[in-house]
Amino acid sequence: MDLTFYIALLILLLALWYCRTLRRSPSLGNAKTIPGPKGFGCLKSFIASSRNNNSHELATEWAQQYGDLVQVNILSQKIVYINDSRLARVIFNHPSLKEMTNDRPDTFLSKYVIYGNKNMAFTSRTDQQKVRRKLYHGVVKFYGENVRKFERIFMTSLNKLTREMQSLNEVNFSHEISMATLRVVDALLAGEESNCTKEHLEALENFDTTLSELFYFDMEAVLKPLPFLRFVPGLPFKTKYDALIKARDDLVNAYFHRLKETYIKGQERGVIDHLLTAQSKLEEEGDVESLCDDSVKALLCETTIASFLTTAHTVNTLVLLLILHPELQEKLHSEVKSVIGNETPSLRHRSSMPYTESSIIEALRYASAGPFLLPHSCREDVEMNGYLIEKGAILLANAWYCHRRSDQWEEPWTFKPDRFLDDNGQLLQADHPKRLNLIIFGSGSRSCPGEAFARSRMFLIVVTLIQNFEFFALDNVKLPDVDPRNWESKAVRAPGQFKCGIRPRTEIHLP
Ligand code: HEM
Repeated sequence: MDLTFYIALLILLLALWYCRTLRRSPSLGNAKTIPGPKGFGCLKSFIASSRNNNSHELATEWAQQYGDLVQVNILSQKIVYINDSRLARVIFNHPSLKEMTNDRPDTFLSKYVIYGNKNMAFTSRTDQQKVRRKLYHGVVKFYGENVRKFERIFMTSLNKLTREMQSLNEVNFSHEISMATLRVVDALLAGEESNCTKEHLEALENFDTTLSELFYFDMEAVLKPLPFLRFVPGLPFKTKYDALIKARDDLVNAYFHRLKETYIKGQERGVIDHLLTAQSKLEEEGDVESLCDDSVKALLCETTIASFLTTAHTVNTLVLLLILHPELQEKLHSEVKSVIGNETPSLRHRSSMPYTESSIIEALRYASAGPFLLPHSCREDVEMNGYLIEKGAILLANAWYCHRRSDQWEEPWTFKPDRFLDDNGQLLQADHPKRLNLIIFGSGSRSCPGEAFARSRMFLIVVTLIQNFEFFALDNVKLPDVDPRNWESKAVRAPGQFKCGIRPRTEIHLP
């Protein structure tokens, strides 16, 4: 794109900024303004860091300089960084604040790709959004912890992976884990008889990869104020937008239309069928809006976005760390051997495996794949610790910093699963001060509804792999950098793809 375009764009944005600044005069009352950097230098570094996808590093510098709450003003948009997990929990959860702090900012992506205000994850907390979230949460939680049937489907898919890997000496681990995770997402959406084909997996994967292209700063920053650019031939916005809409429609055809055609009430196969049943119940009660077809399509897109890369990247990170720390891999294996032995791994083993659980929690902390979780926005002026958070401000919980604060974490850049164990080797309770320093899945009414599902699936993946294989570095193949500060940043931050050696454990544990 040529320079003239960027100059024209900058002038337009500055004009918008000037008009909005004149219109607004915030009512500060007695509350103080949140500290933070100001002026053109701040704007310049914000734009540069956003373009390089490392705004978490800039936000971390500001956190160290200004404290737990930092505010910047970018073209009259206030952004408030929350740099402490407990404080984030109070802001998102406190009864006097939670109605104000759990909206989402408007985005191009939500409005023009994920069915506008009919979606759930990217839209503000309207009454209809609350209905959607409650129904969705109920369905996904059901698949998370309680369902033996789903565990069986999942273990069948994992055993297939284990069988394929047995004949190999080396494996493209990242690819295999992506495929296994996609099969889990497919089974979640479509159920046991999904007849998952290569085309279905491609539809899920393509949607996620084309979407990462629009997550880039340039795209959202330009397309939100100037959405018509998505139609202008010759501009990259149009090419990327067209590709994303095609990927979204392929996904909707593969999962929504296909499943709706064969849906039978009372014989629900997966999440989409359960949502269709909920839809017909709401319609009988006279509510045709809260869960209309577009909302079910949006939930399909959101589940794909939320569940695939997050899970695959966490398992990748953990296995990469175990390859680099063979002593930790052996420790994990000895727990698997003593608790599961030759049995098929099951969720009932979980409570007796504190080392495995703490390794997964530590991998989630270590990677902090979504540095700012998802953005919230503030509905009304609120006061917090004597500071004013203004109506319309974007609230970003800086998990990247919260999970590495040197005053809260010993050796924050080191992978240490033991940090979540007590002196008896038991997992620290969820309300232990150390665990309260974590904010991996968010908190409160916008927290991750897939947490139980994600954690239980990761447990099954990890124990099955460790039960059957030893993973090691290959002499001639370089492993990716394991330091999260050097990872490439896309929609979620993750180490690059990697190949590694595998050695089947002497006893193989397939049913
Ligand atoms: C390692 C795996 C995962 C991590 C780390 C993760 C993390 C998160 C985080 C940080 C949020 C935003 C919280 C906030 O706004 O305050 C979120 C939201 C969400 N997640 Fe997850 N997630 C994971 C897996 C999943 C899975 C497997 C599903 C679905 C089955 C899922 C569905 C969602 C949805 C729908 C939302 C939006 C909720 C809302 O806006 O009300 N996530 N997740």
